[in-house]
Amino acid sequence: MTEKSHSTSLTVVVGSQWGDEGKGKITDYFAGDCDYVVRFQGGNNAGHTVIVESEVYKLHHIPSGVLYPHPVSVIGNGVVINPKGLIEEIESLKERGVEPNLKVSDRAHVIMPYHIVMDECLTGHQGDLAAGSTKRGIAPVYADKAYRHGIRMGDLLEPAIFEEKLQRAYQFNKKVVTQAFEATFDLALEDIYTDYLSYGETLKNYICDTQVDLYTAYCEGKSFLLEGAQGVSLDLDHGLYPHTTSSNTVAGQINVGTGIGFNGQRRIIGVAKAYVSRVGISPFPTELDGDEAELLREKGQEYGTTTGRPRRVGCLDLVQLRQAVRVNGLTEIALTKIDILCAMTELKICTAYNISGESVSEMPGSLGKMRQAVPEYSTLKGWPEISKKQIEMYCNNGYEDLPDSIKDYVSFIEQAVDCPVTIISLGPQRHQTIVR
Ligand code: GDP
Ligand code: IMO
Ligand code: MG
Repeated sequence: MTEKSHSTSLTVVVGSQWGDEGKGKITDYFAGDCDYVVRFQGGNNAGHTVIVESEVYKLHHIPSGVLYPHPVSVIGNGVVINPKGLIEEIESLKERGVEPNLKVSDRAHVIMPYHIVMDECLTGHQGDLAAGSTKRGIAPVYADKAYRHGIRMGDLLEPAIFEEKLQRAYQFNKKVVTQAFEATFDLALEDIYTDYLSYGETLKNYICDTQVDLYTAYCEGKSFLLEGAQGVSLDLDHGLYPHTTSSNTVAGQINVGTGIGFNGQRRIIGVAKAYVSRVGISPFPTELDGDEAELLREKGQEYGTTTGRPRRVGCLDLVQLRQAVRVNGLTEIALTKIDILCAMTELKICTAYNISGESVSEMPGSLGKMRQAVPEYSTLKGWPEISKKQIEMYCNNGYEDLPDSIKDYVSFIEQAVDCPVTIISLGPQRHQTIVR
């Protein structure tokens, strides 16, 4: 038997709210010390922002470690890929002097043009039960995977197999669009076939059996950083169903979405904003409105990275965060955007929901209950405006130097959700970070 190390350093970064918590920033912060940075679910519905000095990168498929020369970036089998989008992402990085060291799983499913048409039809059909999708074809591609007529990245390298599978999937989707939804379907099968074979040709040097590569690295004791997309409330099983995405966003998905049975010690970091944002449709108990919301949205620049939609904003919700701790098995929390939540005399934090007169501290599975949930708040003291110079100072001097009101906010969260906050983010830049 070959000697296996299994002493791997494994760090998982997942979203603890509704997505857009700053996973890209936190992943980038740790990626420089890792050998592999891996995406394991979701697709280009994700938009992860990494800012390095004056350069802003918005990544959709490619892991947020790509800006360092050392780590290998891997798109695992659990991810769904729009190959045209991926090619554009690679080209745009190359134009900016970044040569992606990238591997793409041959088992990852492919987002096809008819998935995007279906996404539009579904959203219209679902009405008030829709999630307000990113229209990237995410639900239909995962549905086709489950129907077992999906197309995988490896198929784009095998013309005969691709044609055989495409015939079935195309006919199915065309029938649903034209007959069930009675909508227009003007995609020609021949065009899709030619275009997608050419995407396969362009991407062929990246497509491989990532399971085997990752396993070899795992046995050699290499270090891994696994980057989640979306957040716990968007998880297909554990989120606020049906207002979710169509993949499992929680840390438990790392094994399935990479094909590696990681079985050692792991660090699981849940990223949470100091407040909450939500892009899309669902009950949102702590949502703010009017001037208060407008102010926070502008200050935090809360506009979707993928779609540009204004994000709904609200107070920090500890019922949601408590669920994130439990479901992901978080070992720690990274709290972002502390710098945005400044210059307010007081801050409200939701500790429980009042549902029909009952105080509920754990996230209910019932949509009916979530529609009725009224937040119960604790009120904490705010902190003053923080200048760029002060941010530099706090980041140099460390946690203890922060204003007491910030430390009280952090302690309150730790106590309420029973998980340590070990990372404080005070700005979008890599160095605007305090690790305790
Ligand atoms: P992700 O999807 O979780 O990676 O998050 P997004 O990139 O969609 O949205 C987070 C936004 O917040 C991005 O514009 C980041 O540059 C920014 N950001 C992350 N952390 C901080 C922080 O601590 N302070 C401020 N001001 N911005 C931050
Ligand atoms: P990152 O990784 C925020 C939301 C959509 C919609 C629901 C379903 O950047 O945090 P989908 O297109 O997945 O079928 O949409 O999920 N959504 C996100 N919201 N950040 C994301 O990703 C999201 N990805 C999907 O707005 O409500
Ligand atoms: Mg995002």
